Amino acid sequence: MCGIVAYIGKRDVTPILIEGLKRLDYRGYDSAGLVIARDGKLTLRKSAGRIASLESKLDHSLDGSTIGVAHTRWATHGAPTDINAHPHTDQSGRIALVHNGIIENYRTLTRYLESEGVQVESETDTEVLAKLVGHFYEGCLEDAVRKALREVRGTFGIAAISAEEPDKLVAARRGSPLILGIGKEEFLIASDAAAIIQHTANVIYLEDNEVLVVDRDGYKTTNLDATPVTKEVEAIEWTLEQIELGGFSHFMRKEIYEQPEALRTCLRGRLDMDEARVQLGGLAHVARELIKAKRIILTGCGTAWHAALIGEYLIEELARIPCEVEYSSEFRYRNPIVEDGTVLISISQSGETIDTLAALREAKNKGAMALGVVNSVGSTIARETDAGVYLHVGPEIGVASTKAFVGQVTVLAMIAAFLGRRSHLSPAACDQYLRTLATVPDVIEKTLVLDEQCREIAAEYADAGNWLYLGRGLQYPIALEGALKLKEISYIHAEGLPAAEMKHGPIALISEDMPVVILAPRGHWYEKVIGNIEEVRSRGGRVIVVATEGDTEVAKLAEHVLFVPEIDELLAPLVTVVPLQMLAYHAAVLRGCDVDKPRNLAKAVTVE
Ligand code: F6R
Repeated sequence: MCGIVAYIGKRDVTPILIEGLKRLDYRGYDSAGLVIARDGKLTLRKSAGRIASLESKLDHSLDGSTIGVAHTRWATHGAPTDINAHPHTDQSGRIALVHNGIIENYRTLTRYLESEGVQVESETDTEVLAKLVGHFYEGCLEDAVRKALREVRGTFGIAAISAEEPDKLVAARRGSPLILGIGKEEFLIASDAAAIIQHTANVIYLEDNEVLVVDRDGYKTTNLDATPVTKEVEAIEWTLEQIELGGFSHFMRKEIYEQPEALRTCLRGRLDMDEARVQLGGLAHVARELIKAKRIILTGCGTAWHAALIGEYLIEELARIPCEVEYSSEFRYRNPIVEDGTVLISISQSGETIDTLAALREAKNKGAMALGVVNSVGSTIARETDAGVYLHVGPEIGVASTKAFVGQVTVLAMIAAFLGRRSHLSPAACDQYLRTLATVPDVIEKTLVLDEQCREIAAEYADAGNWLYLGRGLQYPIALEGALKLKEISYIHAEGLPAAEMKHGPIALISEDMPVVILAPRGHWYEKVIGNIEEVRSRGGRVIVVATEGDTEVAKLAEHVLFVPEIDELLAPLVTVVPLQMLAYHAAVLRGCDVDKPRNLAKAVTVE
């Protein structure tokens, strides 16, 4: 989705802004632009399309400026055109502004501005905000921004600059993240740490309705009423290497390969083998209340929702607390019942998904305790939950979630044991479970050898228009996840189903044109799944099975078998998902798709 990067310091600003935009490229965008201030005037450049197209519009007239603001836009209001790209300017052309989020009352504001004789030229809600700031401007940009934002309904992360005050940047947020990077004699404002990490690791995170003013001497933060707010400087834990390709062809491939190491970091220091317990520092202060939970609601979107389905299973199995899984987008709009003793778990890689955030706020308003299972440290969901557990799997750049998914499942597996051990789970059973959990990174490492076989299978079926994925029990969410991975990056239609549902309709689809991926690791659904394989085979479907190493029986039934190492069935989803990620990856590459930036998708969905 949209990205913001702004700079004030001593260096030439344009290359820093362009580099910052490129670091935000992974989030998805369809146009880009920038503004710099020099010699008392603003110079803007904007372009529909990729950052390269913006670069082609840059010239030496931009050289030598040390302050500027840049943006990548993901169209919401108005097509991705040059005119709709940000920055937008006020009526005098002396103030420029970039914006992430949505101004919901922009029509009302447009009518108001028009009645005051101000014309809005683009189709964007952002231009309305720029004009409104201009309308209130009386020589102080921060005052004008505050006045304008007090009129706004909706979400925003903004950065603004005025030719009248060429040594000042003003930024503000509500529902759309913004951070300030504090460097040596320089400051950067960005919507994502990736844009500033090569310059500094010291940051402050803006909260909703806070305004940031940065000049050459320092910065100050206030709320919308101009009351000062004191902020803590925090350190970003991610490194530059983590957001670079490092020899891999795509981030998705790099992140699939990073999964063993990512999970080692996720588990580090959290499995207490001596006591057969899980130590989750982020939950310690709420543990007493948590074990009294009468009901747990797990929410998320997309891949995070699939992780929630596995979490539901594990928590019910180990802790015997009733769980429900809800799409965040549905939960927020349907007046859910939240009784005493309800705990909500928000699952989100980015920590910024607007629906998951809204669901969390809804549950908190109704009195639920809210936990976060989040990757991005300092993100909005992480900050608004009462307690939580970070994934610590490192930044995920590929739009298709891979290492974050296994991180989410691993954290939920730990939460299940954390709760279980305080209630139903015996030390011996917990000990065995944790020992298995500790082996997962090594087991995934061994599973990576399937890469070439997955490429071959993908090559055979890359032209098929439809794929089915079937699984039972804990493997059903993996069927959903495998199908989602395939469709989002290769644009092949795919569906994930509980294998037993086949007979109730989808079986009519089976033909020899239909690859059917069936998850059949050993476990207590095994015999039933074999029955499902037979059903597909006898109707001519092309069967690709994910099975446990050494299972010679299943090999006789399938066209292709992807053997994964044996592991306890409760934790097997962490392993069986890996070949499905690889199948999707190779299918997308073979079809010439932009794997890391699939069409129409954004890494963090911060608008509805
Ligand atoms: C799929 C994918 C999405 C995200 C979903 C939630 O590969 O990445 O389905 O899982 O948009 O995002 P987060 O976890 O950031 O809330």
